[in-house]
Amino acid sequence: MLDQKVNLAGVELKNPIVVPSGTFGFGREYGQFFDLSELGAICVKGLTPQPREGNPAPRIAETPMGILNSVGLQNPGVDAFVAQELPELRRHDVKIIANISGNTPEEYGEMCEKLSAAGVDMIEVNISCPNVKAGGLAYGTRPELAAEVTEVAKRHASVPVMVKLSPNVTDITEIARAVAGAGADALSLINTIRGMRIDVKTRRPILKMNTGGLSGPAVLPVAVRMVWEVHAAVDLPILGMGGVSTGADAAELMLAGATAVAVGTASFADVYAPVRVRDELSALAEEQGLQRVSELTGAVRPWG
Ligand code: SIN
Repeated sequence: MLDQKVNLAGVELKNPIVVPSGTFGFGREYGQFFDLSELGAICVKGLTPQPREGNPAPRIAETPMGILNSVGLQNPGVDAFVAQELPELRRHDVKIIANISGNTPEEYGEMCEKLSAAGVDMIEVNISCPNVKAGGLAYGTRPELAAEVTEVAKRHASVPVMVKLSPNVTDITEIARAVAGAGADALSLINTIRGMRIDVKTRRPILKMNTGGLSGPAVLPVAVRMVWEVHAAVDLPILGMGGVSTGADAAELMLAGATAVAVGTASFADVYAPVRVRDELSALAEEQGLQRVSELTGAVRPWG
């Protein structure tokens, strides 16, 4: 029997499959289709100090092999999450990762305190949302600001802190090194790639915000390359994500260096995608004669 457990910065996941922030809400809808305890971890929709309605519609556009979103961090706020959503999620035997976004380092710190006290298993510090004016990419594209947010989050959190990196930079290892130096316990990557679509008849951008973040199978090679680069640059566990829709995709990200893998946009086309990917990944590892799925991590054999 394959051992599917993986250890993400001290948080033991029963298998490497995570559902990433923004693709799974707080699990209520998907819980009608499969037992959420089947997953390694659930990363909840990005939380902010106050409730947010998000950006005006249209905020989703289809693309070849993916989607573009400009949701803008719609969420009920951290207090409502703690009061209403976390107790529901806690009914399942699954690790809970809270994704947070703030306008200032202090806001990140306050949320880290509240969420640690509320008993989440891990906090994912989002410094890479491409759809908000303050916070988000403003922090994730500048090493010194990324480090400052990480340091404040670490000071206020009593659970492991994972920092979510943006692909919208020239050299992702520069940001990875900065947040590692500031004490991050793990990294997650990649968030979405900035993109734009235009309706050729109206000559209007399809998204009301003009631009958005691209996810889905089209971004997988970018994610694999960036996970590989970051794995070589810093000694931190990585939650790899970006376009995974099969077990082989998940294996690619693990071979590149990911400890665990998130299955996100694929869930919009197939609600069972996370559990299917988990089963396909296990079958692939067993076919290769592995004892533990974690043997895949970083096992790529690069040329030259
Ligand atoms: C959003 O809500 O705009 C997406 C969140 C993100 O990309 O971090």
